[in-house]
Amino acid sequence: MSELVSLSRPADVSSDVAVVTVRNPPVNALSPGVPEGITAAIDQAVADDSVRAIVLIGAGRTFIAGADIREFAKVRAGKKERGEGLHPLLFKLEDCPKPVIAAIHGTAFGGGLETAMACHYRVAIRSAQVGQPEVKLGIIPGAGGTLRLPRLAGVAKAAEMCATGDPISAQDALDHYILDRIVEGDDQESLLKGALAFAAEVIASGAAAPKVREKDDLLGDAATNAPIFENVRALAHKKRRGQIAPLKAIDSVEAATKMPFEEARALTAKLFMECLQSPQSEALIYAFFGEREVRKIPDVPPDTPIRRVAKVAIVGAGTMGGGIAMNYANAGIPVLLKEMSEEALEKGMARIRANYDRSVQRGRFTSQFVSERMYLIQPTTSYEGFQDADIAVEAVFESMELKKAVFRDMDAATKPEAILATNTSTLDVDEIASVTSDPSRVIGTHFFSPANVMRLLEVVRGKETAKDVVATSMQLATRLRKVGVLVGNCHGFVGNRMFGPYVRESQFLVEEGAKITDVDKALEDFGMAMGPLAVGDLAGIDIGWRIRQEAKHSQPEGVRQPLAEDKLYEMGRYGQKTGAGWYRYGENRRRIDDPEVQPVIAALAKEAEIAQRAVSAEEIVERTIYALVNEGARILEEGIALRPVDIDIVYLTGYGFPSYKGGPMWYADWVGLDKVHSRVREFEQQHGHWWKPAPLLSELAAGGKTFAQWQRERS
Ligand code: 3HC
Ligand code: NAI
Repeated sequence: MSELVSLSRPADVSSDVAVVTVRNPPVNALSPGVPEGITAAIDQAVADDSVRAIVLIGAGRTFIAGADIREFAKVRAGKKERGEGLHPLLFKLEDCPKPVIAAIHGTAFGGGLETAMACHYRVAIRSAQVGQPEVKLGIIPGAGGTLRLPRLAGVAKAAEMCATGDPISAQDALDHYILDRIVEGDDQESLLKGALAFAAEVIASGAAAPKVREKDDLLGDAATNAPIFENVRALAHKKRRGQIAPLKAIDSVEAATKMPFEEARALTAKLFMECLQSPQSEALIYAFFGEREVRKIPDVPPDTPIRRVAKVAIVGAGTMGGGIAMNYANAGIPVLLKEMSEEALEKGMARIRANYDRSVQRGRFTSQFVSERMYLIQPTTSYEGFQDADIAVEAVFESMELKKAVFRDMDAATKPEAILATNTSTLDVDEIASVTSDPSRVIGTHFFSPANVMRLLEVVRGKETAKDVVATSMQLATRLRKVGVLVGNCHGFVGNRMFGPYVRESQFLVEEGAKITDVDKALEDFGMAMGPLAVGDLAGIDIGWRIRQEAKHSQPEGVRQPLAEDKLYEMGRYGQKTGAGWYRYGENRRRIDDPEVQPVIAALAKEAEIAQRAVSAEEIVERTIYALVNEGARILEEGIALRPVDIDIVYLTGYGFPSYKGGPMWYADWVGLDKVHSRVREFEQQHGHWWKPAPLLSELAAGGKTFAQWQRERS
């Protein structure tokens, strides 16, 4: 056999079952050589008269986790023919004269589940998951997932799984007949044992091997299926707004219910290629690899020693401290949570409890899980016990003096090798570190609100932060189920620094005559999770006002500053918390257009001699998104972000940028930097100071290059 696939006979257990093992670490993707290897192994097993059944299993941590995603770029670029893809292998499995049993652990995803469904039976261990996550890559299941899944699980379950891409548990898969059995035990050895026992039963029964593609009894009819497809299309619009693949995946499942297998397969091949050729799938695949690339730090090699983190101490149990405590507790790490007073502590613990209760109500956690997590969080009002912590995290008010005082205390209270982390969103990490006896153990871990929900964690490297502190913090991000992105130390780091110009331009546009609702709508239509003005209302108009007050002394003279938000502040319109800001808020914080606001802003603009005009949706998008890009280019020049992809991942995981547009830097490359640059120049002519093009943007535009090319050339 090949190195990627082996055929063996576990003689001691059952001599008439052959075991085909896929060995393509780390995730047993169906890379070139794997389908060929399985085909050869099946042929050999079929040819061997002593074999009466075949088990297909994955070596290492998982069953087959899907097609090799890297190969898609070759097909898109025309460097590789897609041809029949995996179908020949799947037909071989399904038509195999001897029963084939897929034995699943880890994740049977995409092509992995499609392979398993072409087998005659599927068994799994309890911790296994199955799914058709292709839509998350902007494509649809391309090897019969949309056609076989409805035949096993029914139309509604199949359509939902293919449209959302969300995985399901082994139990759910068993309940929906995707699996035939969950075997006892939860390791690979138990899996093989259970699969061999299952194979022996199949042999003993002498039953004909069932072919999923020939099973039509669950496909329903047009009348019963119509509401199912209507519902799932609505779900796709809601959960994956603006994306084409989920709708095409549903079309393909619908085709499975309406036409013979082969016809539906031909249609699906066409839909698959339409998706693969779309910029959406290019962006989503870039984002998939991007989330993994950001873990790689050029000067911190993977073998850098990691400090042990078995206990955390957190100072401040406010909005962020409480959320951070939940993150650590959810990862099973005991937390010591310090507040200033018993009263503040009680308030903080009550907020944590209420957040957990909401998760139980939503079915995200069980009550038992929550009790266990609450037990891990130990409240305190002193630094006693800090000496046992491996990391101390500061989450007190955003004040340099206070943070310095807390860091002096944390420095004294912890053991010398403990990491000291700050959750500051704007302050200078080096200045904070300067008050400690060892600044090399100081780092920023900047969580986003709500900290128990948002996936992004900016890891802020100070000038003296030790490499193993960086490596440990990045690994910790993964343990906390966050996407850690390493950023440099500057005001606002990457995310908030770029968000400043973006929000500023959205406010300028309103002052120039754009309607509040039009600004948010244009950006929501672009794909942003929420428009910038609605975000202002959510975060608090008072917060924006405070930031502008603090920044006032550093702003150049005579440069245009936003006016409207200060006016809202004066009017006591602090956003959602006061029921009114840019908008008014109804029941359940429903956003309502408020006719009172626009004339107030128009009057303010008139006073400031800002001409009013109609503003197109296109201009709204360009003014705001190119403001992000221009600041992003400066961030790259300064080395605050390591690579363009780091900026993109910050925006995809922390700021609601549409994943199918790849992030601001990827999007700018896609638009063309020459075009972006020329609009930036026009904006500079019209609006002055703020629009000075970043030198890197000018240089790349002049050289006809992209940010991605620039990155490739320097690495
Ligand atoms: N193809 C190529 N590389 C893959 C891959 C795949 N399908 N899945 C994972 N990898 C790579 C990752 O890029 C990473 O590489 P790196 O170490 O160089 O950064 C490495 O494998 C390990 O991946 P993770 O760090 O993500 O490992 P985890 O253990 O955290 O997660 C996983 C494992 C849940 C399998 C996760 O990797 C995952 O979700 N993978 C994608 C699964 C998927 O989308 N499958 C469908 C593919 S499309 C398809 O099958 C089309 C079909 O219909 C024809
Ligand atoms: P908060 O006001 O909700 O909580 C701060 C808490 O710190 C209060 O409960 C206060 O009693 C406590 N505290 C102050 N001094 C203390 C001391 N010496 N010992 C123990 N506790 C003390 O503030 P929030 O929003 O949680 O912010 C905390 C930090 O996180 C700030 O640096 C902020 O900039 C940052 N941040 C805030 C985000 C947000 O959206 N709220 C997002 C990301 C970062």
